[in-house]
Amino acid sequence: MRRIARPNRLLLVLAALSVLGACRDGEPPLFPVDAAQGLGEQASPERGARLIAERGCTACHTVPGVRGPASRVGPPLGNLARQAYVAGLLPNTPDNLVRWLMDPPAVNPRTAMPDMGLQRAEAEDIAAYLMQRADRHARTP
Ligand code: HEC
Repeated sequence: MRRIARPNRLLLVLAALSVLGACRDGEPPLFPVDAAQGLGEQASPERGARLIAERGCTACHTVPGVRGPASRVGPPLGNLARQAYVAGLLPNTPDNLVRWLMDPPAVNPRTAMPDMGLQRAEAEDIAAYLMQRADRHARTP
Protein backbone atom coordinates (compact mmCIF):
# COMPACT_ATOMS: atom_id res chain seq x y z
CA MET A 1 0.00 0.00 0.00
CA ARG A 2 1.28 3.51 -0.77
CA ARG A 3 2.14 5.64 2.21
CA ILE A 4 -0.08 8.64 2.75
CA ALA A 5 1.87 11.86 2.25
CA ARG A 6 2.41 13.83 5.46
CA PRO A 7 0.16 16.85 4.69
CA ASN A 8 -2.67 14.46 3.82
CA ARG A 9 -2.19 12.65 7.11
CA LEU A 10 -2.57 15.97 8.89
CA LEU A 11 -5.83 16.52 7.03
CA LEU A 12 -7.08 13.09 8.15
CA VAL A 13 -6.27 13.93 11.76
CA LEU A 14 -8.06 17.27 11.46
CA ALA A 15 -11.11 15.59 9.91
CA ALA A 16 -11.18 13.00 12.71
CA LEU A 17 -10.91 15.73 15.34
CA SER A 18 -13.77 17.71 13.85
CA VAL A 19 -15.96 14.58 13.86
CA LEU A 20 -15.04 13.93 17.51
CA GLY A 21 -15.66 17.57 18.33
CA ALA A 22 -19.22 17.26 17.01
CA CYS A 23 -19.97 14.79 19.82
CA ARG A 24 -19.10 17.24 22.60
CA ASP A 25 -21.74 18.29 25.08
CA GLY A 26 -23.12 21.72 24.37
CA GLU A 27 -23.30 21.12 20.63
CA PRO A 28 -26.65 22.02 19.11
CA PRO A 29 -29.02 19.05 19.15
CA LEU A 30 -29.40 16.99 16.00
CA PHE A 31 -33.09 17.83 16.10
CA PRO A 32 -34.34 21.17 17.41
CA VAL A 33 -35.31 20.76 21.06
CA ASP A 34 -38.79 22.11 20.35
CA ALA A 35 -39.22 19.63 17.50
CA ALA A 36 -42.82 18.51 17.60
CA GLN A 37 -43.22 16.96 14.16
CA GLY A 38 -45.07 13.69 14.60
CA LEU A 39 -46.28 14.59 18.09
CA GLY A 40 -49.93 15.60 18.60
CA GLU A 41 -50.74 19.16 19.61
CA GLN A 42 -51.68 17.85 23.04
CA ALA A 43 -48.37 16.11 23.79
CA SER A 44 -47.31 17.19 27.28
CA PRO A 45 -43.79 16.70 28.65
CA GLU A 46 -45.14 17.16 32.21
CA ARG A 47 -47.55 14.25 31.77
CA GLY A 48 -44.72 12.35 30.08
CA ALA A 49 -42.49 12.64 33.15
CA ARG A 50 -45.33 11.37 35.36
CA LEU A 51 -45.99 8.43 33.03
CA ILE A 52 -42.30 7.48 33.00
CA ALA A 53 -42.44 7.22 36.81
CA GLU A 54 -45.86 5.50 36.96
CA ARG A 55 -45.23 2.91 34.25
CA GLY A 56 -42.03 1.64 35.80
CA CYS A 57 -39.62 2.74 33.05
CA THR A 58 -37.11 3.55 35.80
CA ALA A 59 -36.94 -0.15 36.70
CA CYS A 60 -34.71 -0.42 33.63
CA HIS A 61 -33.71 3.14 32.68
CA THR A 62 -32.08 6.09 34.39
CA VAL A 63 -34.14 9.08 33.27
CA PRO A 64 -32.79 12.55 34.11
CA GLY A 65 -35.39 14.55 36.03
CA VAL A 66 -37.40 11.46 37.05
CA ARG A 67 -36.72 9.82 40.41
CA GLY A 68 -35.93 6.13 40.36
CA PRO A 69 -33.44 3.44 41.26
CA ALA A 70 -30.84 4.59 38.66
CA SER A 71 -31.13 1.26 36.87
CA ARG A 72 -28.78 0.34 34.02
CA VAL A 73 -30.71 -2.53 32.46
CA GLY A 74 -31.48 -0.33 29.45
CA PRO A 75 -29.58 2.77 28.26
CA PRO A 76 -29.95 6.04 30.19
CA LEU A 77 -32.55 8.24 28.48
CA GLY A 78 -30.99 11.70 28.77
CA ASN A 79 -29.69 11.95 25.24
CA LEU A 80 -32.72 11.46 22.99
CA ALA A 81 -32.70 15.08 21.81
CA ARG A 82 -29.26 14.57 20.27
CA GLN A 83 -28.71 10.98 19.27
CA ALA A 84 -29.03 9.81 15.67
CA TYR A 85 -30.95 6.56 16.22
CA VAL A 86 -33.60 5.16 18.53
CA ALA A 87 -32.42 1.79 19.88
CA GLY A 88 -29.69 1.83 17.24
CA LEU A 89 -32.23 1.10 14.51
CA LEU A 90 -34.75 3.84 13.76
CA PRO A 91 -33.64 7.31 12.62
CA ASN A 92 -34.40 9.47 15.65
CA THR A 93 -37.53 11.46 14.78
CA PRO A 94 -40.41 12.12 17.20
CA ASP A 95 -42.61 9.84 15.11
CA ASN A 96 -40.12 6.96 15.26
CA LEU A 97 -39.59 7.45 18.98
CA VAL A 98 -43.36 7.11 19.50
CA ARG A 99 -43.36 4.02 17.30
CA TRP A 100 -40.62 2.44 19.43
CA LEU A 101 -42.32 3.34 22.72
CA MET A 102 -45.63 1.81 21.64
CA ASP A 103 -44.20 -1.57 20.69
CA PRO A 104 -40.43 -2.19 20.78
CA PRO A 105 -40.61 -5.89 19.80
CA ALA A 106 -42.52 -4.89 16.64
CA VAL A 107 -39.47 -2.81 15.65
CA ASN A 108 -36.91 -5.36 16.78
CA PRO A 109 -38.16 -8.84 17.76
CA ARG A 110 -34.91 -9.53 19.64
CA THR A 111 -34.98 -6.45 21.86
CA ALA A 112 -34.96 -6.85 25.65
CA MET A 113 -37.43 -3.98 26.06
CA PRO A 114 -40.97 -5.28 26.51
CA ASP A 115 -44.16 -3.80 25.04
CA MET A 116 -45.24 -1.49 27.88
CA GLY A 117 -48.82 -1.26 26.62
CA LEU A 118 -48.70 2.50 26.02
CA GLN A 119 -51.50 4.25 24.16
CA ARG A 120 -50.43 6.62 21.38
CA ALA A 121 -51.23 9.73 23.46
CA GLU A 122 -49.16 8.37 26.35
CA ALA A 123 -46.22 7.52 24.08
CA GLU A 124 -46.40 11.06 22.65
CA ASP A 125 -46.30 12.60 26.13
CA ILE A 126 -43.26 10.47 27.00
CA ALA A 127 -41.56 11.30 23.68
CA ALA A 128 -42.18 15.00 24.35
CA TYR A 129 -40.46 14.68 27.73
CA LEU A 130 -37.53 12.69 26.36
CA MET A 131 -36.96 15.02 23.38
CA GLN A 132 -37.66 18.36 25.01
CA ARG A 133 -36.78 18.09 28.70
CA ALA A 134 -34.68 15.10 29.68
CA ASP A 135 -31.39 16.34 28.23
CA ARG A 136 -31.73 19.66 30.04
CA HIS A 137 -31.86 17.78 33.32
CA ALA A 138 -28.93 15.64 32.20
CA ARG A 139 -26.74 18.72 31.80
CA THR A 140 -27.73 20.30 35.11
CA PRO A 141 -25.18 19.22 37.72
C1 HEC B 1 -37.49 -4.58 31.35
C2 HEC B 1 -36.63 -3.45 31.12
C3 HEC B 1 -37.20 -2.24 30.42
C4 HEC B 1 -38.33 -1.50 30.73
C5 HEC B 1 -39.34 -1.76 31.87
C6 HEC B 1 -38.35 -0.38 29.82
N1 HEC B 1 -37.31 -0.45 28.95
FE1 HEC B 1 -36.83 0.89 27.51
N2 HEC B 1 -35.26 -0.26 26.93
C7 HEC B 1 -34.85 -1.41 27.57
C8 HEC B 1 -33.70 -1.95 26.87
C9 HEC B 1 -32.93 -3.21 27.26
C10 HEC B 1 -33.45 -1.07 25.80
C11 HEC B 1 -32.39 -1.22 24.70
C12 HEC B 1 -33.13 -1.90 23.61
C13 HEC B 1 -32.43 -2.11 22.31
O1 HEC B 1 -31.51 -1.34 21.96
O2 HEC B 1 -32.87 -3.05 21.62
C14 HEC B 1 -34.45 -0.03 25.87
C15 HEC B 1 -34.52 1.05 24.98
C16 HEC B 1 -35.34 2.14 25.16
C17 HEC B 1 -35.31 3.34 24.36
C18 HEC B 1 -34.34 3.62 23.23
C19 HEC B 1 -33.11 4.23 23.89
C20 HEC B 1 -32.03 4.68 22.95
O3 HEC B 1 -31.02 5.19 23.46
O4 HEC B 1 -32.14 4.54 21.74
C21 HEC B 1 -36.25 4.19 24.86
C22 HEC B 1 -36.57 5.59 24.36
C23 HEC B 1 -36.89 3.52 25.96
N3 HEC B 1 -36.32 2.28 26.12
C24 HEC B 1 -37.89 4.06 26.72
C25 HEC B 1 -38.59 3.36 27.71
C26 HEC B 1 -39.75 3.88 28.39
C27 HEC B 1 -40.34 5.27 28.19
C28 HEC B 1 -40.18 2.90 29.24
C29 HEC B 1 -41.41 2.91 30.12
C30 HEC B 1 -42.69 3.12 29.45
C31 HEC B 1 -39.26 1.78 29.11
N4 HEC B 1 -38.32 2.10 28.16
C32 HEC B 1 -39.32 0.61 29.83
C33 HEC B 1 -35.40 -1.99 28.68
C34 HEC B 1 -36.57 -1.56 29.29
